Amino acid sequence: MKQKITQLLEQNIEGMSAEEISSLIEIPPKAELGDFAFPCFRLAKTMRKAPQMIASEIKEKIGTVDFIDDIQVQGAYLNFFLNKSMFAASVIETAVKDDFGSSSTGDNKTICIDYSSPNVAKNFHVGHLRTTIIGNSLYKIFSKLGYHVIRINHLGDWGTQFGKLIVAYKAWGNEDAVKENGVSELMKLYVQFHKEAEEKPELLDEARAWFSKMEQGDEEALRIWQWFVEISLKEYKRTYELLGMDFDYFMGESFYRDKTADVVNRLTNAGLLTESEGAKIVDLEAYNMSPCLILKNDGSSIYATRDIAAIFYRKETYNFVKCLYVTGQEQKLHFAQVFKVVELLGNEWAKDQLVHIPYGLVSLEGAKLSTRDGNVIYAEDILLEAIDKIKEIIEEKNPELPDKESVAKTVGVGAVLFNDLYNQRIKDVSFKWEKLLNFDGETGPYVQYTYARCASILRKVEDFDISVSIDYSLITDDASIDILKEISRYPQVILDAAEKYEPCVIARFAVDVAQAFNRYYNATRINVEDSALRNARCKIVYITMKVIKDALELLGIGCVEKM
Ligand code: ARG
Repeated sequence: MKQKITQLLEQNIEGMSAEEISSLIEIPPKAELGDFAFPCFRLAKTMRKAPQMIASEIKEKIGTVDFIDDIQVQGAYLNFFLNKSMFAASVIETAVKDDFGSSSTGDNKTICIDYSSPNVAKNFHVGHLRTTIIGNSLYKIFSKLGYHVIRINHLGDWGTQFGKLIVAYKAWGNEDAVKENGVSELMKLYVQFHKEAEEKPELLDEARAWFSKMEQGDEEALRIWQWFVEISLKEYKRTYELLGMDFDYFMGESFYRDKTADVVNRLTNAGLLTESEGAKIVDLEAYNMSPCLILKNDGSSIYATRDIAAIFYRKETYNFVKCLYVTGQEQKLHFAQVFKVVELLGNEWAKDQLVHIPYGLVSLEGAKLSTRDGNVIYAEDILLEAIDKIKEIIEEKNPELPDKESVAKTVGVGAVLFNDLYNQRIKDVSFKWEKLLNFDGETGPYVQYTYARCASILRKVEDFDISVSIDYSLITDDASIDILKEISRYPQVILDAAEKYEPCVIARFAVDVAQAFNRYYNATRINVEDSALRNARCKIVYITMKVIKDALELLGIGCVEKM
């Protein structure tokens, strides 16, 4: 409908492109102001006339059109009142299609998303849960827009900490205990290392020596390190499985260990590398940033060096149009430095193709979250706790429900994801169980429940057939038009979410649709006697379900038919 109005205006306005017209068209805040509005301020400038006058002239020129009931001039605006049944027809016929919301904007161009990326031998904690959830949603959103998206898990699997861990394991470790307790045991060893090193600083030299051995390819060092990686990955994959998420590549920092020398060469040749207290740095004072450390005084590379190597590798291998990094906001400076260094090496594209996508903290106010070992909360424990709590609710309210286990998983995990994605990334996320598991609030369970309600309505109408065409003149009531208006926003909502890298735009849309549907449901009997009317109303239920399912899918959340 917006397209049709754009066309109509294009035919009746001189010297303004369809794109410009389309970008100016607004959706008025109140129904009294019509369904679409076109402001004439910009035309007033070029035409040197009062905007009201221009609006009246355009109205005059347009005359009468079949899909518009009325056009009103109000101030500088042209307000369009659509023909309701034609509007209903256009929304429903678009929304039933499989590809509703999809587009070819991405034109198969490649986007790399670097997210999740936990640190080997450390637990997959709630902070990593955020990057995982946000990154996964961005992956779905950009895929929907026709991009080829590469999901990269940049595991923290290299660095001096592994030298420390090898020393600790050799001194106090026990193979069986590590096998039995996994990452938790490795973390204990790490803590013990730091305690002991306070008394015996020579341990630090030993650790450096072991990391050197790793960098030189020493067989024993690499064997132990590899084992730590495997143990950690096994645990992380348990969490990914709970989340139903996966990656194209687990390409950790270690993957770039033979590619950092090239970074040093490039920087040297470009004359960008300077010495500072034995270390090698890139001075970034001219850009108001502290220097980017490239090589430590013992010659070893660091996190930033490997990130720079990764950028070149990804650019050469995937030829991305964007490479996105989803991490906490505390890494803002790190990415600004790394991106600047790449740009200074003569890569203008770094300016707009490398994007850091920061997010806020997780706070655990009010939630009683048991830790296994006194460390930062495990993501897995949060998810399992959410599932358990949903199970309790099901046992209490609907013990006869089939597939209780899988329903509890979809709803429990979905609640945690939705809670994370409902607000802007940069805001802190708090875990309040009563809030995020609430079945009526702005929550995952609420949206999923609305979906299940739709499913139950359609189950009761035995003869509903989606392929039968309906009489659109039956859909002109306000409640119907309201829900259809919400649904019709979906394609634009996806574009907005992508442009801002904000899954919350989708989450909010899902709540808006659910709320509009529940208003519709309260105002309208669906299973009525009259079969034409029944069929028309069921079709609205059907597309509501479809769009809710699709939107939740973009957030990484599933739906259940009964709950
Ligand atoms: N392992 C890092 C952390 O846990 C995140 C890595 C983000 N990605 C990157 N290319 N630096 O903080």
